[in-house]
Amino acid sequence: MASDLTVIVLAAGGGTRMRSKTAKVLHEIGGRSMVGHVLAAVQALEPGRVVAVVGHQRDQVGPHIQSLMPAVVLAVQEDQKGTGDAVRIAVEAAGTTSGTVLVAAGDTPLLRGESLRDFALEHEAAQCAVSVLSGVVDDPFGYGRIVRNDEGDVEAIIEENDATTDQRSIHEISSGILAFDAEFLTEALPKLDNDNAKGEYYLTDTVGLARDAGLTVGAFPIDDWMQTEGANDRVQLANLGRELNRRIVEQWMRDGVTVMDPDTTWIEADVSLAPDVILLPNTQLLGATVVGEDAVIGPDTSLKDCEIGAGARVVRTHGELAVVGNGASVGPYAYLRPGTELGGGGKIGTFVETKNAHIGAGAKVPHLSYVGDADIGEGTNIGAGTIVANYDGVNKHHTTVGKGAKTGANNTFVAPVTIGDGAMTGGGTVVRRDVPPGHLAVSGGPQRNLDRRAPRDQEATTMGEPGPDEGES
Ligand code: UD1
Ligand code: CA
Repeated sequence: MASDLTVIVLAAGGGTRMRSKTAKVLHEIGGRSMVGHVLAAVQALEPGRVVAVVGHQRDQVGPHIQSLMPAVVLAVQEDQKGTGDAVRIAVEAAGTTSGTVLVAAGDTPLLRGESLRDFALEHEAAQCAVSVLSGVVDDPFGYGRIVRNDEGDVEAIIEENDATTDQRSIHEISSGILAFDAEFLTEALPKLDNDNAKGEYYLTDTVGLARDAGLTVGAFPIDDWMQTEGANDRVQLANLGRELNRRIVEQWMRDGVTVMDPDTTWIEADVSLAPDVILLPNTQLLGATVVGEDAVIGPDTSLKDCEIGAGARVVRTHGELAVVGNGASVGPYAYLRPGTELGGGGKIGTFVETKNAHIGAGAKVPHLSYVGDADIGEGTNIGAGTIVANYDGVNKHHTTVGKGAKTGANNTFVAPVTIGDGAMTGGGTVVRRDVPPGHLAVSGGPQRNLDRRAPRDQEATTMGEPGPDEGES
């Protein structure tokens, strides 16, 4: 495919049944908007031009489409007077007069590039003036019916509201995806009228015009009808979302990923998985998440835009924009916030929250800790219950812990502060000042045991020597 192909994406419709402030084609499944899925399929054809027709909520829809496809031509349809009117506006915007023009809707998220390509090639090979991607379905209600003559040639596409009872019993229907010879389309569009049940300019009436002119019309059925289905309400959206997920999960299994429970595993369209990844139940891999070979993810884990190294283990974790090194271990019950980077073989353990934290190779934050705005050196071990106090109420400050350090349990590191290589801290230390390399930091006085009992009971106990602090109390 190439420069002689123009694709028109219709996205001007209102989508009232979504009952949403968000335009219909912007509703998401599988990590992309519906129109985003369509544009990805279109992009696979490397067309010379893509025109998107926008109308309803075009202040949302237009910029979204441009962000996904900067070279797109946006055509504005002020009033939705029908698909024929929308395509007329698109053709004017494109200025195309040669080659093939494909028309698709913006709300068919399961559509695949290969299907569009096969359809365009069939259309071109049969030298049709116009072709329709059709389907044979059990329940044709609501769709345009493909009317064929006794020879099987396509005579017309008749919309539901305009069809006779006989025509309504036809099970071959129009997907709304059509292919045109550009010259024929340019001549046919001005001839369309709106003399029909809906009072709209039907693009599908071009079929009758082609027949009247003695030109060839094709209808090429697609086996996988769901690829052409649109979502008009949120029930259909969820159904298509589940089906899209089922397809994505199945494809990853065929590519060598073990999925223990496909029904509770969600993988979005832009995720990338290496062979021999193992996904345990209730795992959601979202956005541009990448998982390396032999990594085991789950159960009960959501990762968005994360990069998980080969052989890593991530259990019951919520992560976003985090990088986990090869062979590292995360969870159970970890919260990886943006900017978390865990080095190879490192550990972020149980009830640990991290944010903008670089934790070196082999370093461990095993239990009950918050690490934010910090660098932790290779091989360092952070004691249980450590809080990096990065926020003074106004500004965020940075904490650095060197390599091979061992900090005690229940510490607070009051940022900005630096703990040197090989340093140690005692249990309960509040680190307010830098700790030089190789030093042990302790804070707070020695323990005091104050006797609160009545005087006669006190005599029964032999007290130890008082410490320096106790002497004064
Ligand atoms: C259309 C087809 C029908 C087909 C069905 C498949 C026509 C006349 N009918 O019917 O044969 O079986 O799709 O789903 O083409 N749109 C605009 N501007 C408009 C009107 C529509 O951009 O003025 C867009 C809509 O946003 C939508 C697409 O075109 O994405 C289809 O329009 P819609 O009104 O839903 O057509 P259907 O009645 O479903
Ligand atoms: Ca429709």
